[in-house]
Amino acid sequence: MLELRNITRTYELGGERAGVFGVSLAVAAGTVAALAGPSGSGKTTLLQVAGLLDVPDEGEVLLEGRLISNLPERERCALRLERLGFVFQSFNLVPVLDALENVMLPLQLAGRPEARERAEHLLARVGLADRRHHRPGQLSGGQQQRVAIARALANDPKVVLADEPTAALDHAHGEPLLDLMARLARETGAAFLIASHDPMVLDRADEVHRLRDGRLEAAP
Ligand SMILES: Nc1ncnc2c1ncn2[C@@H]1O[C@H](COP(=O)(O)OP(=O)(O)OP(=O)(O)O)[C@@H](O)[C@H]1O
Ligand SMILES: [Mg+2]
Repeated sequence: MLELRNITRTYELGGERAGVFGVSLAVAAGTVAALAGPSGSGKTTLLQVAGLLDVPDEGEVLLEGRLISNLPERERCALRLERLGFVFQSFNLVPVLDALENVMLPLQLAGRPEARERAEHLLARVGLADRRHHRPGQLSGGQQQRVAIARALANDPKVVLADEPTAALDHAHGEPLLDLMARLARETGAAFLIASHDPMVLDRADEVHRLRDGRLEAAP
């Protein structure tokens, strides 16, 4: 589903080269892959390349076998909206919109007339039907992240990219969230790539890729 081939994206800082170097990995449809590694090992850098938010210096991103990393910005933008879903550590919900409106947003941007019905269906799937008219500030961290997951799934993405999705949550809220993502991966067929050093994420992933100093460690 998602394939990264030999991705290099480096930053030059004070004579030092940081970033990711020659990383290749694939995430199959309907599975959860974890991207593990210490702080600064390149997880966010790699996710940004995979999510077409950044362009690699070298290497290729393929979605369903199609090369997408070299497309013009306008097409990459359309793919981000229609084929990719994003979940961030800090939820990134729009504070003045309620849960339902937050989930409707990408549907409306994609011009889907059934935005409201679909957003209601998605909120029900993440167990928040009764909270649809609450704004982010009226929801717990775990509930906000469930809204963010519903929003990420709005346009039926092929790939969901999550950067430390449980980092702002305690164990009691993080665990059900991961179970939810694993279940949604299976049910929707989306490929989930989750960057985290949270052992709960690594336990639940179908596959774990470990980064160290920007390079993938050999599988144990
Ligand atoms: N915009 C940037 N400019 C310069 N250097 C950067 C930039 N973004 C990342 N880096 C460097 O690239 C390396 C990888 O950073 P990255 O954010 O990908 O790590 P990470 O694994 O996500 O870390 P964390 O677990 O702390 O989020 C680090 O050494 C970082 O300093
Ligand atoms: Mg990071």
